Amino acid sequence: MTELPIHDYYPQASQLVYGCMGLGGGWTDAPANEQDTRQAQHIIETCLENKVNVFDLADIYTFGKAEEVFGKVLKASPELRKNMIVQTKVGIKLTPVHDVKQYDLSPEWITTALNSSLKRLQSENVDILFLHRPDPLMDLDDTAEALQKLHKQGKFSHLAVSNMHAGQIAWLQSAVSFPIIANQLQMSLQHADFIEETITTNMKEGCNSGFPRGTLEFCEQQNIQIQAWSPLARGIYTGNPSSAPDANELATTKLIAQLANRYSSNTNAIVLSWLLKHPINIQPVVGTTNIARIIECAKAPIVSLSRDDWYLLFETARGHEIP
Ligand SMILES: NC(=O)c1ccc[n+]([C@@H]2O[C@H](COP(=O)([O-])OP(=O)(O)OC[C@H]3O[C@@H](n4cnc5c(N)ncnc54)[C@H](OP(=O)(O)O)[C@@H]3O)[C@@H](O)[C@H]2O)c1
Repeated sequence: MTELPIHDYYPQASQLVYGCMGLGGGWTDAPANEQDTRQAQHIIETCLENKVNVFDLADIYTFGKAEEVFGKVLKASPELRKNMIVQTKVGIKLTPVHDVKQYDLSPEWITTALNSSLKRLQSENVDILFLHRPDPLMDLDDTAEALQKLHKQGKFSHLAVSNMHAGQIAWLQSAVSFPIIANQLQMSLQHADFIEETITTNMKEGCNSGFPRGTLEFCEQQNIQIQAWSPLARGIYTGNPSSAPDANELATTKLIAQLANRYSSNTNAIVLSWLLKHPINIQPVVGTTNIARIIECAKAPIVSLSRDDWYLLFETARGHEIP
């Protein structure tokens, strides 16, 4: 297994990232309370004890409350900060706070959003700033200038992107002087278009793949860390089935339970180990708030799926044999 690309910048970074989208008491108007902060503290400490030291946030998560409780934990226990890598994202404006849902990578919004995030996080700096989604109305030079300024002010140490394809990353990179170090995309056994894209070149079957062709290869060549969001497929194979599970989902759930047994592991670790087997060295961003599940997920890096089992899982989840 090669090094994680992110190790060029953070040699101590863990393979798993903890996704903080569930912190802060949910997507409601109700303010975060003390119980929400205690939950965040317990989760952060559990992650660190289990060698998960990268934390993924966004300004929008639970309408800012995820960053708020995270900030309160950092304020109460500042010693935790030196052992972690903190990343946040800006660039999405959500209703009901904004009249129209939109992506906004304008200089004004990036600056306002990052300053608000830092205030909630009670921090002067985040390690990695992600641009959450591409904004079709972005002016490259203006956005790049704002990023350069915020970087120079020390408000973020490294830049990353999310939900972008190779061309968009190269375009952005052409205008900023520091490297784009990561790209976060949805990837899981259920959302496996990144593999479909690889194996269906020149086939009609591949036309339905939403994954942008060449993006994995581009990221590998440019040493850009791939991070996978929703890597547990929100638990559909491990105890939180879809409302009307199809035969593929049921068969995959059954197979994962068998593999957990055979590898003396657990179902969450098996689901993640399927992503970890990919040689591009993915960092799954795990979003469960359940302490037992976090501990199970942390065992994924010690599972080494065989080639046969990797293909069997893929074919079972996709429902038919590969071409
Ligand atoms: N860049 C982007 O555009 C983007 C988009 C979405 C998410 N993200 C990041 O990715 C992280 C992970 O995403 P995610 O939370 O959607 O996906 P996930 O890690 O695949 O799934 C976590 C969710 O599934 C539930 N779950 C998992 N296993 C379960 C089980 N066995 N039984 C019941 N519930 C189960 C969890 O509930 P419990 O908490 O109860 O376990 C939680 O709500 C987020 O926290 C965020 O940091 C990024």
